[in-house]
Amino acid sequence: MKTKFNFKAALISVALLGGSITSGAVYSSPFPLLKANGVSTAQDATDYYRTIDPPVAGHPNGLRYTQAEWREVNGFNDPANEIVVVGGHKNVSDLGFWRRIEMVIDKRWGKRRNVAFTTYNFEFESDTTDVKKAKSIVNMEYSPGPNGDRITKFYIYNPDGTRKADTFFDPDGINDLTKQDNLNLPNGCAACHGGGEDFRAHSGKTDGGFLAFDFNVFEYGTLTSRAANEPNVKKLNQGVLMTDPPSAVKNLIYGLYGGKSLPLATQNSDYMPSDWATEPALWKVVVTDCLGCHTLSESSVLNLNYWKLHVGSLREQLFEYRLMPNSPYANRRFWNMDPNQPPTTPAHSDTVRDALKRFRP
Ligand code: HEC
Ligand code: HEC
Repeated sequence: MKTKFNFKAALISVALLGGSITSGAVYSSPFPLLKANGVSTAQDATDYYRTIDPPVAGHPNGLRYTQAEWREVNGFNDPANEIVVVGGHKNVSDLGFWRRIEMVIDKRWGKRRNVAFTTYNFEFESDTTDVKKAKSIVNMEYSPGPNGDRITKFYIYNPDGTRKADTFFDPDGINDLTKQDNLNLPNGCAACHGGGEDFRAHSGKTDGGFLAFDFNVFEYGTLTSRAANEPNVKKLNQGVLMTDPPSAVKNLIYGLYGGKSLPLATQNSDYMPSDWATEPALWKVVVTDCLGCHTLSESSVLNLNYWKLHVGSLREQLFEYRLMPNSPYANRRFWNMDPNQPPTTPAHSDTVRDALKRFRP
């Protein structure tokens, strides 16, 4: 309920600010992009860390106050554990940073089946082999929370390893501070990772979760390739499945790997839920532009019937308010207005517009 209210409130205030919205621009508060699940304050972030990583004797700031400590707590230094590394790709549906991701599925006694992912975000492909060149570090952990149940926890670290409350989510903000819109934990992650529940009332739980790794939205440069990344990306997806994700995330991973037991060694990028067979072009746009976020919130967007029944609200979010896709990089791409991204042909916005016209002229 709360998340819905925030979203509509943001929409209304944007409308009051004067109506016409230019995609890709950074707006005065409330910013519509990446805020569809509400925003958190710096105090929220401090309280969040105290909840998920409480002070203990000798550690007034918790056990994960630096990236090095976070790695230690999560078993990255234990020889019994395998560190699965996937690097050198860019996810064009979300933030547009080059990436290096490392995962540990803990095998140590007492920590078994905890899952931890650290994500290093880079400006350049060539930087992805040197974590010291990261522009930000964002981590997630699936491990016991304050009441003992496993929950999903979100962290942000500076490239120098110190923990921080907020970060920005647009490569344009690296060099242009006017585009550096820094969002606090935990809601800074919620537009894509879902959640937005009050962590104070739910023992640290926001209801946000892990997202699938889908080659449909990965881009490669010259350093590595999809073929080289396939085996470890499959391991990352197996790790995601261990975090008790909602069915939309599970079904996507099952679909990409040919079934529940993940029989395929490599992803089937032509996977399409059977009810989309009549709309392959629209499905492709949904995969590249919407699925990254909408497997975790409002997953009805992945359903063709939803499109047919909600032509009006889709027109509003996409063409009137230009709030979807909800992240700055993906939004500029959807509208073919980013000089740093190759134009899509036909423009994804046209594919959607045509489909909506057919569903309801
Ligand atoms: C604009 C969307 C977006 C935002 C905002 C975002 N993420 Fe992600 N994140 C993704 C996507 C999509 C993936 C799936 C993996 C991939 O494609 O690289 C992902 C993957 C991850 C992973 C690897 C584990 C997984 O879920 O697959 C971590 C860790 C992570 N994000 C941390 C964070 C944290 C922490 C925040 C907030 C500070 C955050 N992310 C905000 C889109 C986002
Ligand atoms: C960066 C993340 C992100 C991307 C990408 C994204 N969305 Fe969304 N979208 C959201 C969030 C968060 C909400 C608000 C969910 C809520 O209110 O609980 C939302 C809400 C919506 C709603 C309103 C749902 C309702 O019932 O109020 C529609 C329609 C929608 N999105 C369509 C799309 C379409 C179509 C695309 C792809 C072209 C897309 N979105 C891409 C994050 C995203």
